[in-house]
Amino acid sequence: MKKFPETFVFGAATAAFQAEGAVTEGGKGKTYWEDYLREQGVFDPSTASDFYHQYKTDLALAHEFGMNGIRISIAWSRIFPDGTGTPNPEGVAFYHRLIDECLSRQVEPYVTLHHFDTPLPLYEKGDWLSQEMRDAFVDFAAFCFAEYGDKVTYWITINEPWSVVAGQYIIGHFPPNIQYDLPKAIQAMHHMMVSHARIVNLYKEKKYAGEIGIVHILESKYPISDSLENRQAALTENTLANLFLLDATCNGRYSPQTMQIISDILLQNNGSLITTPADFAVMQAAAEQLDFIGINYYASHFIQSYAGESLIHHNATGDKGSSIFGLKGVGQRVNNPSVPTTDWDWPIYPKGLKDMLLYIKKHYPNYRKLFVTENGMGAKDVLVNGEVADSGRIDYVRVHLQAILDAIEAGVNVQGYFMWSLMDVFSWTNGYNKRYGLFYVDFETQARYPKQSAYWYKSVSESRELM
Ligand code: BG6
Repeated sequence: MKKFPETFVFGAATAAFQAEGAVTEGGKGKTYWEDYLREQGVFDPSTASDFYHQYKTDLALAHEFGMNGIRISIAWSRIFPDGTGTPNPEGVAFYHRLIDECLSRQVEPYVTLHHFDTPLPLYEKGDWLSQEMRDAFVDFAAFCFAEYGDKVTYWITINEPWSVVAGQYIIGHFPPNIQYDLPKAIQAMHHMMVSHARIVNLYKEKKYAGEIGIVHILESKYPISDSLENRQAALTENTLANLFLLDATCNGRYSPQTMQIISDILLQNNGSLITTPADFAVMQAAAEQLDFIGINYYASHFIQSYAGESLIHHNATGDKGSSIFGLKGVGQRVNNPSVPTTDWDWPIYPKGLKDMLLYIKKHYPNYRKLFVTENGMGAKDVLVNGEVADSGRIDYVRVHLQAILDAIEAGVNVQGYFMWSLMDVFSWTNGYNKRYGLFYVDFETQARYPKQSAYWYKSVSESRELM
């Protein structure tokens, strides 16, 4: 039986806003989420999984259950409550304690600088669309490198640029809740990639000893049939959601084919993309120095051509079959009857992960190193007598780990896997209703309970074999 290499990292992921809670403690400033969520009145993120207070317990559990890596993120608004200005000593000290605890438990921290949590004052100035935000992000990164750079070996600039812009400007389930504005989404993605690149270059100029990368959500797009129209639609969505970002990340420029497809989308949506030669100089320098790419993978999509007006309904309840996703000038996501889906209509398709890993090896051969930085299954888990029987999650993770093993065997350099999530956390658009954790969190008492999947994951990490 094939085994994972001895050096392969078995970890789990968290993100500051989704895990920490304590949104008004320790001098923390606001992100764009707090007021928005309060106004919606549906979910309260103020305690989340209480990681701010319980990180020692959680790291002890991670260690006990065989993990040697954890993704954490630094809440920008804890360090700079207004996004810029004077650092907040309590916030700075918290991340020293957290990183120290990771290291003392031999759970290597992989630290993300932006995980969907722009500080409110910078969001109000235009978020990624404003120059002020982009400059402030570079300053925040420089501060974190200077402060924690001697302890942190793995840095991640941005988590999932595509999800950010899709949430903000296409699906509209992230503030400012704009729908179908593809030109804004594409412009913001470009700005994120230039900001990412500036930070990579800065990290390398200062000769820090660690490694730096970026995390993309990369989900394969398949035509639902072999017709020319459906193939074109799948390629268009693949270009918009995946290739635009991979081109920028690995090559520091957009290929002529990518630009052609993006220009067509922009034309159909009456928009344009503003770039400068300086952007590409920065992006190319970063592409040459980037150490790794993190891939978040949950699902793939089956696409058919679409002539209608854009229409999207985001399933945030787990009512199976309620999703709609049709994008003018791009395509429509449709059900593939031979592929199972979660209650949130996410196709469970491990082949899509293997295909994506192989695609990167073939088309972006300069990628250096990959990690699967998020993968997991959201479900409405139930705690019965202190136990959670989540065999569906075990099956999901097993087949995705198998896909990674297959890709490694085919020569793809994948160095680790981080399950989303370590413990149940707050979900941006589903609140506490969609659980992913290896550890069940009772959000009333904040007690933790290992799920069946936690025991299984421990046996996999210890044996390096799938069972
Ligand atoms: C990833 C994000 O896209 O998906 C996480 O990086 C997020 O922050 C995860 O929680 C799962 O998404 P959801 O909407 O199911 O909670």
